[in-house]
Amino acid sequence: MTDTIAQSSDLIRPSWWTGSPAVPADSYVVDAAEFLGSDGRVAVTDALAERMRSTFRDVGLVHVVNTGLTEHSDMRAIAKLVVDAEMAYRAGANPRGVLEPNVYEIGAPLEAWLHYHHEMAYVGTSTKMVAFLCKRELPGRGATFVSDNLQATDALMATEFGRKLARLGVCYRRDLTDREAFVGREPIGVYNHWQHSLATDDPAEAEARAQERGLQTSWGPDRVLQTRYYVSAFEHFPQLDRNVLYSSVADHAMWFDAWPLVEQLPPEQRPLWMTFGDDSDFTREELELFVDVYDRFGTPIDWRVGDVAVICNYRFAHGRPSIRLAAGEERELGVLLGEPFQRVGDVADRW
Ligand SMILES: [Fe+2]
Repeated sequence: MTDTIAQSSDLIRPSWWTGSPAVPADSYVVDAAEFLGSDGRVAVTDALAERMRSTFRDVGLVHVVNTGLTEHSDMRAIAKLVVDAEMAYRAGANPRGVLEPNVYEIGAPLEAWLHYHHEMAYVGTSTKMVAFLCKRELPGRGATFVSDNLQATDALMATEFGRKLARLGVCYRRDLTDREAFVGREPIGVYNHWQHSLATDDPAEAEARAQERGLQTSWGPDRVLQTRYYVSAFEHFPQLDRNVLYSSVADHAMWFDAWPLVEQLPPEQRPLWMTFGDDSDFTREELELFVDVYDRFGTPIDWRVGDVAVICNYRFAHGRPSIRLAAGEERELGVLLGEPFQRVGDVADRW
């Protein structure tokens, strides 16, 4: 018991923001009250599309409120005003073939806090943006936080740790468990089975697919598929022609510090591990700085049902605190991923 208390008081806890928003709400909030149809719900019009696109282009974030919508499918149509426009502009190809026709679940337990992160930074194919759609609200306690990544990058690069990250890059290690090994067993330590992550039951195919994504692979005990991905901690952002921070402790074992069924494992036995690109570990001070640099530039997005937010994956990191529901409470968001892109890492002289 003493050990548990000592351990939990030792955790590095994100604080999400300073208490005042790093980005003013009026720069990115679009009030749909201006764009309502006769049924009291937001209508898809050129004027709404233009407002959302210009806001996203200028800020890298747009949050549409007062939509009157209640269904994910309707909110998705609003999010796609930005997502599809970006795809058509960037890719010059039929955007509808690229986007999965689904709205995804968040895929993380509410009790776990989700450290600031860039979506899919840990594989060679990332995404340019991510959109959230609010189906069930928990006002005041269910916010997602976004961190202004341009400011975070500049602040980090002013430190020795930031320059070390730029010099060495990072390595993401992931242990993908075998679904068959957990049949009839409590899923302690399970984050992602390779069958699920790589969408195949064939180990050879799973390994091939991981390698296609730029991962190094090896098999551990109990058919655990161990992957490693060496990459820059930064990514070149074409729109501003500059490198931005593109890594966080969300891919470190501390991602699981409040994660049911994984938090009880010592860090070295958890499914994620992250090091510098020379395989050396971060110090505690470096991890604290990594958390703090995002916290300093955080802004809450406090959801109401019908809200749609589109977040540029280069310009913002996103995360959220633990959420504990009382009886009768709910909090539900849907996720939409934007256009995929192949990571290039940082580009010389673009800092
Ligand atoms: Fe995310």
